[in-house]
Amino acid sequence: MKILLFGTPGTGKTSIGRCLQETYNFKFFETKEFAYEHGYYWGYDWKRRSMILDTELFEDFLEAEILKKEQKMNICIAGPVIYINPQLIDFVVVLRCRPDILRKRLEARHYPPQKIEANVEAEIMDIVYLDTLEHYSKEKVISFDTTFISPQDAAKKLLKSLHTSL
Ligand SMILES: Nc1ncnc2c1ncn2[C@@H]1O[C@H](COP(=O)(O)OP(=O)(O)OP(=O)(O)O)[C@@H](O)[C@H]1O
Ligand SMILES: [Mg+2]
Repeated sequence: MKILLFGTPGTGKTSIGRCLQETYNFKFFETKEFAYEHGYYWGYDWKRRSMILDTELFEDFLEAEILKKEQKMNICIAGPVIYINPQLIDFVVVLRCRPDILRKRLEARHYPPQKIEANVEAEIMDIVYLDTLEHYSKEKVISFDTTFISPQDAAKKLLKSLHTSL
């Protein structure tokens, strides 16, 4: 199974991706780390404190080097919304979190207040979900709430619901 995992920072992409890798035999790629490793980035945005991806070239690379080559492998790619040929993936999962709980998670990470507000606002306005629907058809997109569930339980429940949707 091939999954893309999107979501506002703090919704649990990394935590769930790691559980998929450790418990469910998935190969897990963090878009930003993987892009950085292979040189697909323009630089660093100090205002947003995040890497600026060279998105199109990186998407081509992911398609050719990972998704087409590793056809038998379970793969989860997590990070900002990217566009991958939908034929190469089974599901696009958008993680959600109730904004007040998301704020707590981001505060616990000691993010600067401005970054916390920007992310909480993005979650309230469904930015990632709407952006995802601009790139992928609704049938492939699954919204999954992580507010009151541990990453381990979230990974388990998510896989169960994906298997029943296959
Ligand atoms: N289901 C959960 N329940 C409680 N806390 C969680 C849950 N998922 C993640 N967290 C906590 O929220 C914080 C952010 O989680 P995580 O790093 O997985 O998010 P992310 O979506 O990968 O964020 P980013 O986009 O910044 O990489 C972590 O401190 C993690 O422990
Ligand atoms: Mg992460």
